Amino acid sequence: VLPEPRFEHRHRGEHTAAADIDSRPKLTDTWCGYLEAAGREIVRALQWEPTAFPHFTEDGQWRLLSVEARSRWDGDVYYPGNWTAGFWFGMCWLRGVSSGDDTAAVLALGRLDTLVTRAEDSTTQDLGFLFQPSFVLAESIGLIDTELVWPAHAAARMIGHRFNHAGRYLQALGPIGDARFATTSTIDTMMNLPLLWWASARAADPRLFEMARQHARTSARLLLREDGSSYQLSEHDPVSGALHGRSPSSAETACQSRGQAWAACGFAWAYAATGEPELLAAAERALAYFARILPEDGVASWDLADVNADGPRDSSASAIAALALVILGRFHPDPAHRVELDGQGADLLIRLGVDCLNRDERVHGILLHSCYSKPHGWGVDGATGWGDFYYGLALALATGQVTAEVALGFSPTQLQS
Ligand code: GLY
Repeated sequence: VLPEPRFEHRHRGEHTAAADIDSRPKLTDTWCGYLEAAGREIVRALQWEPTAFPHFTEDGQWRLLSVEARSRWDGDVYYPGNWTAGFWFGMCWLRGVSSGDDTAAVLALGRLDTLVTRAEDSTTQDLGFLFQPSFVLAESIGLIDTELVWPAHAAARMIGHRFNHAGRYLQALGPIGDARFATTSTIDTMMNLPLLWWASARAADPRLFEMARQHARTSARLLLREDGSSYQLSEHDPVSGALHGRSPSSAETACQSRGQAWAACGFAWAYAATGEPELLAAAERALAYFARILPEDGVASWDLADVNADGPRDSSASAIAALALVILGRFHPDPAHRVELDGQGADLLIRLGVDCLNRDERVHGILLHSCYSKPHGWGVDGATGWGDFYYGLALALATGQVTAEVALGFSPTQLQS
């Protein structure tokens, strides 16, 4: 049995000298660096078609993707379509929360309608990524009125149609009921559940809450290995829903760091929503595994089992894991542990700022050294829409720029009463 490592043990070591700690940036400096980089992104966005949004960068330039791009197969290659446009909106709201500059919010509000048709998209489970950082966060911050948030409710209901009652999971990928996908569940869906937690709180819809809770429980039981690492996919019997098999994200990958981070953060969010000890334990196990393999600079390798120091890294995975730490730092039942988790989250955010926060206006994006997909060769060593957003959300929560209720979209007492 391996000892349970803590984030602080891995990144200190010889760096614990008092002088080193004193010379490190503070969390507020990192947040200011984020706001500056976000400000440059707003200026850049003025040049774009209003229906195209940052997906990932290559050679320091955004690859923009139409919000209308739907998931599809081309031969044997699956293209997930645009699951990332919502993150740009979230980044804009975050830029506005403490900068005193409403340019970003005004620009983003003017483009919000471009997302609306995706609320009826039955080809993907990733509607949570599209609608939670955009409509839901805007409503939680108070930028849009409750009656304008109906597309996010529609998107939540659409995800609900993916629920497989026999297997108690939400169908991964692909059109609802498509035989190629109807029997699959993926760890990534854990981070689409926040849309369902929010919708069930706002609309007092116990049905959506129950689907999200069942999916989270199934994922905790089937998609985490004994050591806390995650599978990417589970496959189920089409009739009974029983487990048939599990697999990582590709044949060469043991455990993709981003999937692991989606697990940690998705379970932390699910614990905040449900208060269920099983989901807290799942979040802690996923985080402990992440900590065990995290290099000293805080930037995860794309594949957590990749011992090759030159392999692709994915800072977006580390940013998502940092958000998990900060969320548990608010909601862990043990007050002493809350303080510890919050400190570990802040420390990871600072370390990411040192190596990955973009300070060069010629280079696009905010959080550098992410990787979308190593096997596809997509966005290797660049910025990503989700890395930029979740890094900002974690920083905003850790620095108190937004409350936990705003960041999550609900107050736990609202859902658990
Ligand atoms: N669709 C989520 C991801 O690629 O991580």
